[in-house]
Amino acid sequence: MSDVCWGLLSTARINRALIPAIRDAARGRLVAVASRSAESAQRYAAEWGILRAFGCYEAMIESDEVDAIYLSLPNHLHAEWAIRALEAGKHVLCEKPLALSVEEVDAMAAAAAQSGTVLAEAFMYLHHPQIALIDDWVTSGRLGTIQRLESTFCFTLDRAGNYRWDPAMGGGALWDVGVYPLSLSQWLLGGPPTHVLGHAQRNAAGVDIAFSAQMQYANGAVSQFYCGFQSPWTMGLTVIGSEGRLVATRPFNNIDPRHARLYVSHRGREEAVEEMAVPQASLYAGEVEEMHRAILDGDAPRLSLAASRDHIRTVQALYRSAAEGAVVRV
Ligand SMILES: NC(=O)c1ccc[n+]([C@@H]2O[C@H](COP(=O)([O-])OP(=O)(O)OC[C@H]3O[C@@H](n4cnc5c(N)ncnc54)[C@H](OP(=O)(O)O)[C@@H]3O)[C@@H](O)[C@H]2O)c1
Repeated sequence: MSDVCWGLLSTARINRALIPAIRDAARGRLVAVASRSAESAQRYAAEWGILRAFGCYEAMIESDEVDAIYLSLPNHLHAEWAIRALEAGKHVLCEKPLALSVEEVDAMAAAAAQSGTVLAEAFMYLHHPQIALIDDWVTSGRLGTIQRLESTFCFTLDRAGNYRWDPAMGGGALWDVGVYPLSLSQWLLGGPPTHVLGHAQRNAAGVDIAFSAQMQYANGAVSQFYCGFQSPWTMGLTVIGSEGRLVATRPFNNIDPRHARLYVSHRGREEAVEEMAVPQASLYAGEVEEMHRAILDGDAPRLSLAASRDHIRTVQALYRSAAEGAVVRV
């Protein structure tokens, strides 16, 4: 195989971000889309200029024309359809969150190991050079001992009837956007927290429309985040270390360079804030290139399944903490 032939599993809204990333990649080709209805698949294929349209998911998964699946289904369907695709010998880039329980992650990982295929969680922002730059500031020690991370990801969810409003479909702010600050904390601090305290603000249907979290790490660092569905677009990261402080205004989505800023200030020179250029790159290109390296070159994905498992473990601990009103060990 010299190129990876991709199929989109569903006509989800997020596909529009992946389509150019696959098309622009040196070793990727977008060849198919599958939808629950033939009519919608055909309409979508015509709109986006995709060669093959499958009127059910099974048909695309079984097709020899497709090597890799981009899985953009609602969260409660990730495990089932990833496993079916992996068992059919397809590589899978699965949207975040990878699954809704550790048991599901383990079953998915077992299916990938059994079929010798690549499975990865699609956290696009972790593959962007901005995160490599932030990671370098944190891990090089230039900020000193990391004491605290503060991050936010909020937006106004105005899509009535969307799966995000339904707890049974893996809806809720924590599963949808809280996983960004959670995964970034894990990435920058080198592993999951030891203890968490969560607070959920729920609507009448029982879905968390906002979530606050405090996560305690073995090295003494604390990460706090807030996420929600009912505020204007709000995003940010502050890393506080003993020697310096780093602020990123668009850590998770820096598509518009006018709004993405990166600042560092140093102990004793707090007023001399240093502004760094945010590296420019397509937000979704990195995760696609990473899949190509894993599939074609045999490289291990930088975001391992063990790390994705820890994301899910931490989310589950946070929901448990919110339900019990107590600190929970992860
Ligand atoms: N990385 C990112 O930047 C990012 C951004 C947004 C979302 N996401 C993730 O991407 C996934 C999809 O999110 P989205 O907002 O793009 O989804 P969406 O627009 O609501 O679309 C989901 C698609 O799933 C299919 N589907 C199958 N069973 C369904 C059911 N019972 N109810 C509703 N849809 C069903 C539908 O496609 P067919 O009708 O064609 O079968 C539908 O179009 C989620 O896991 C989300 O977390 C990631």
